[in-house]
Amino acid sequence: MSTRVATAADLDAIMALEHASFPTDAWSPAMMREELASPHGWYVVVEEAGSLVGYAGLRAVRGARDADIQTITISESARGRGRGRALLAALLDEAARREVHDVFLEVRADNPVAQRLYLSEGFVEVGRRPRYYQPDDVDAIVMQLDLRGWSARRAQEPASGISETPTTTSGKGWC
Ligand SMILES: CC(C)(COP(=O)(O)OP(=O)(O)OC[C@H]1O[C@@H](n2cnc3c(N)ncnc32)[C@H](O)[C@@H]1OP(=O)(O)O)[C@@H](O)C(=O)NCCC(=O)NCCS
Repeated sequence: MSTRVATAADLDAIMALEHASFPTDAWSPAMMREELASPHGWYVVVEEAGSLVGYAGLRAVRGARDADIQTITISESARGRGRGRALLAALLDEAARREVHDVFLEVRADNPVAQRLYLSEGFVEVGRRPRYYQPDDVDAIVMQLDLRGWSARRAQEPASGISETPTTTSGKGWC
C-alpha cells in the first residue's frame, strides 16, 4: 500500500471509484477536477499494486480556523483493513499543519460505517440537515472534531495509522 498526494492525472481513476461508491450522488468530473486543483484543497490517494483503491479530500483555506472533510472513499474490495482510517488521519494531520482548530463534515444518516469511523476519531454530532442528500431524501449528520484534542491524543499513540507519508503535492464539505 502506498499513500500520496493526488494529482490531476488521478482524475479518471478517482471518478471511477466515485461512481462506484456514490452511485446516486457522485460528483461530476468538472467538480472533481476543480477540487484537485484548488489551492484550498488537499487530496490524497492510496494505491495497491499500481491501482488506486481510495481517495480522500480536505478543504482548509489557509489561515482559516475551520476546515472540512470533503470526501473519503475506499474501494469495496479494500475496505475493512484500516485504509479509510489512515486516509482520514492524513487529512487531519494536514489540517493540523494548516493550524486549523475545528474540522467539520457531513455524513449520510444511513451510513453507520462512516459514522462509526468518525465517532471513533473523536468527531461529535453537532446538527442535522433534513433531506440534505437528494435524490435519496436522506438526512445529513453534521459532525465536528476538536483538532487540537485529536492531535494531542494522536501524539500519545505509539504509531500513526498511515504507513507512508504523501510525497508529492497538488491540490463533498459533504461526504
Ligand atoms: C467509510 C469508509 C471510507 C471506511 O473505510 P475502511 O477502510 O473500510 O475503514 P477502516 O478499515 O479504516 O475502519 C475504520 C472504522 O470504520 C468502521 N467500520 C469499518 N468497516 C465497518 C463495518 N463493516 N461495519 C461497521 N463499522 C465499520 C469501524 O469503526 C472501523 O474501526 P475498527 O476497525 O477499529 O472497528 C469505507 O467504508 C467506504 O469507502 N465507504 C463507502 C464510501 C463512504 O461511505 N464514504 C464516507 C462518506 S462520509
